[in-house]
Amino acid sequence: MKALVLAGGSGSRLRPITHTGAKQLVPVANVPILFYGLAHFAEAGIKEVGMVVGDTEAEIRAAVGDGSRWGLEVTYLRQDAPRGLAHAVLIAREFLGDDDFLMYLGDNLLQSGVAGFVEGFERHRAAMREAGEADRAPAAQVLLARVPDPQRFGVAELAADGSVVRLVEKPEVPPSDLALVGVYLFDPSIHDAVASIEPSARGELEITDAIQWLLDHDHRVHHEIIEGWWIDTGKLTPLLEANRLLLEVAEPRIDGTVDEASTIEGRVVIEEGAVVIDSIIRGPAAIGANARIERSYIGPFSSVDHDCTVVGSELDHSIVLARSTIADVPRIVDSLIGRDAVVTRSAQRPRATRLMIGDHSQVDLDV
Ligand code: TTP
Repeated sequence: MKALVLAGGSGSRLRPITHTGAKQLVPVANVPILFYGLAHFAEAGIKEVGMVVGDTEAEIRAAVGDGSRWGLEVTYLRQDAPRGLAHAVLIAREFLGDDDFLMYLGDNLLQSGVAGFVEGFERHRAAMREAGEADRAPAAQVLLARVPDPQRFGVAELAADGSVVRLVEKPEVPPSDLALVGVYLFDPSIHDAVASIEPSARGELEITDAIQWLLDHDHRVHHEIIEGWWIDTGKLTPLLEANRLLLEVAEPRIDGTVDEASTIEGRVVIEEGAVVIDSIIRGPAAIGANARIERSYIGPFSSVDHDCTVVGSELDHSIVLARSTIADVPRIVDSLIGRDAVVTRSAQRPRATRLMIGDHSQVDLDV
């Protein structure tokens, strides 16, 4: 079993952060999203990982390296443009060979990992082979989640025996409330499927069309319904939610320095080299290595990444990326602040809001 991770794409829904960085590397609880997936592959016994990358290849290579940190062997597969999830399978043909593989969207986060999902597929296929019914073994397995708004997703229609009969992309009248989570298992039949389909109306080779091709050509597709939470972190609100969920389970630890005038309450991680002076940190919260928090309040569900400075400010339910500075700002909530950003309260007259913000930024002022 190999893994194929999709870490390319354009990330347009997370601009401006994705103008300068890969969305799969945005930290959640101060750990890049992609790293949670890699740890889950190792846990599922997977060794070989094909990493599909686009324009942000260099950044992903620098962060993930050869994968040995997780006991994985990572091979990088360059996709010239985000031509769709099925296109990623097409370009990975040589890497995948005739092995079964797990396909995983690099901006997904799954509470329960993938070990059970992989094991179920392998067990089922082995049992069918032993029973002399290898040709009836599932060619694919999809992971589904019950959602309140299936119109926004790829949706599966199931038969009474639980087999998948049809997949529809963003249906106006959904056949069920079972949405496709971005985790799939395939045997080599998928290669015929991705080579046979045509680009969709939005110009992409869709994996739902490839799976539908399998169904139309008498292959069986199994499903599992996800246990625990699952988040597609590609937008701000789910990203903040993922941060909240992961901070809630982070192991509290204080490796930095906290002075006597400061109070640390609840589940808080303070990395080595971080300094907390005359401040309140109310967990769940994470403060990255070499950050400086001074005369400030860091409220629940906040992650401040390494080498940030927060002085005379209040922060709640927010993610601050590396090397940014927040100074004398009374209250920042529900925010994502990029790398090397500076947010300050100006003493300059006339009083005004002075901005230099990136393309596609979003600013909600309280004045
Ligand atoms: P999406 O989030 O569907 O697409 P995107 O990254 O282009 O983002 P947006 O819609 O905000 O512009 O992609 C899911 C994952 O798959 C994500 O990690 C990017 C990756 N991907 C590829 O690697 N190649 C592709 O061709 C596509 C479409 C996505």
